[in-house]
Amino acid sequence: MLKARGLILLGIALTVATIIASEKRYSGYKVYTVKKARNDTEYKALLELQKNFKKVDFWSDPSKRRPTDIMVSPEDLTKTEQFLSSHGLEYSVAINDVQRVVEKENVRSTRQSGMNWRDYQRLRTIHDWLDSLAAFNPQVAQTGSIGRSTEGRNLKMIKLSKNPEKKNPVIYIDGGIHAREWISPAVTTYIIGKLMSLSPQDADLLENVDWHIVPVLNPDGYEYTFNEDRLWRKSRSLHNGPNCPGVDLNRNFDFHWGEAGTNDDPCRNTYPGPYPFSEPEANSTASYLFNNRNKIRAYLTFHSYSQLWLTPYGYTEDLPSDYEELESLGLRAARALQEVYGTEYEVGAPSHILYLYSGSSQDWAREYGNVKYSYTIELRDDGDEKFLLSPENILPTCEETWEAVKVVARYLVENRKTGKDTTAAKRPPPPFPPVPTYIKKNKDEENADIDGNYDSDSSEEEDADVV
Ligand SMILES: *[C@@H]1O[C@H](CO)[C@@H](O)[C@H](O)[C@H]1NC(C)=O
Ligand SMILES: *[C@@H]1O[C@H](CO)[C@@H](O)[C@H](O)[C@H]1NC(C)=O
Ligand SMILES: [Zn+2]
Repeated sequence: MLKARGLILLGIALTVATIIASEKRYSGYKVYTVKKARNDTEYKALLELQKNFKKVDFWSDPSKRRPTDIMVSPEDLTKTEQFLSSHGLEYSVAINDVQRVVEKENVRSTRQSGMNWRDYQRLRTIHDWLDSLAAFNPQVAQTGSIGRSTEGRNLKMIKLSKNPEKKNPVIYIDGGIHAREWISPAVTTYIIGKLMSLSPQDADLLENVDWHIVPVLNPDGYEYTFNEDRLWRKSRSLHNGPNCPGVDLNRNFDFHWGEAGTNDDPCRNTYPGPYPFSEPEANSTASYLFNNRNKIRAYLTFHSYSQLWLTPYGYTEDLPSDYEELESLGLRAARALQEVYGTEYEVGAPSHILYLYSGSSQDWAREYGNVKYSYTIELRDDGDEKFLLSPENILPTCEETWEAVKVVARYLVENRKTGKDTTAAKRPPPPFPPVPTYIKKNKDEENADIDGNYDSDSSEEEDADVV
């Protein structure tokens, strides 16, 4: 008996040791902020750096609009600094030792006390919380899954709908497409929490709007950032063997796939995958958007960092014909956000205020999901802590973002009255519509029944236009 217990303890000790040993460490890694390129020569030099320095992790892509952040390993420090200096690129050290910042954040994230917004939460905590919300509020909330990740985790969605018979406009929200952007799932869950406990003056937000929310779209990557590598971005699929796993989910959508802002080296962070929709996470999102294309009137996809409210499109410099309206709604949302803590956002099209990226969920939603108001939101911060935003900033980020989300929701309700949103009626269907799959229920997922609803919903689709 005692012996057996000793063996178990030894086993646990070994497991803990393995986990610690395999965890990626960032001792001596630095993050540099390179000033924005002032002309084509400097821009090309940055592109060259990105192309040739395979191990340098670009936290933001080269751009003429904004500074570029790069993380450099101790071995590459000298070489990288030499390259920057010799090309006249001005830079400063933004994070001196990445490991130290990672540890500061992790001390807290291992504390467990149920769902809250003082710490970053594990997937299990989030998913359990969603299920308990649905269990306690069955008239309003339902959980289910839009599909499964590569490693078989649920892509769990919560649907909030108080008046299904009213056919309210739907806001579709997702978070955590990029695993290391921890603030994103924190914000998406906060929105859910607020919607489940609305004050009387906000009651209209559930009376007149339905919400479909997937707080963690890349659960494999998200768990990997807690267990193995805090700065993992991609999915965890193995298309190219075990050496370079993962695909950038926000480059994997089948619209201008593999063009701007992608890298076809599977080891890189912006690898768009071997083919469009190779990733079940992206594919399931597209299926869901498509199957609900006349109901979903806004799509908000949360990323970090930079404090940007990005309008369509990511793949081109050309602006859509309704750009002015999209921008003006973004500006109104950003103003409401700023009123809370003074946090400033830039609003605009990616090519104008950031850089081009193609194959994104935002573009796909807009083009094929008929979602007129399709926005990518880059949350806090604007450059101090970047992906490693400290836990003290979680709650303020959530609170201010909630104000912006409310603006979008009320705009949709207003639109419904004025008939301004006519996108749904005008857009042609996509050339290769993804067909919904029936996702088999997990045995221990008692209340997961959004899964099979695609078909029963589709009969309503034709008359569900919110115009
Ligand atoms: C680009 O800008 C830098 C800094 O202003 C300058 O030193 C360099 O000569 C410029 N290059 C060209 C080709 O204009
Ligand atoms: C994508 O979805 C379609 C239909 O929903 C399915 O046939 C296909 O196998 C899916 N592909 C992946 C990689 O999940
Ligand atoms: Zn991101």
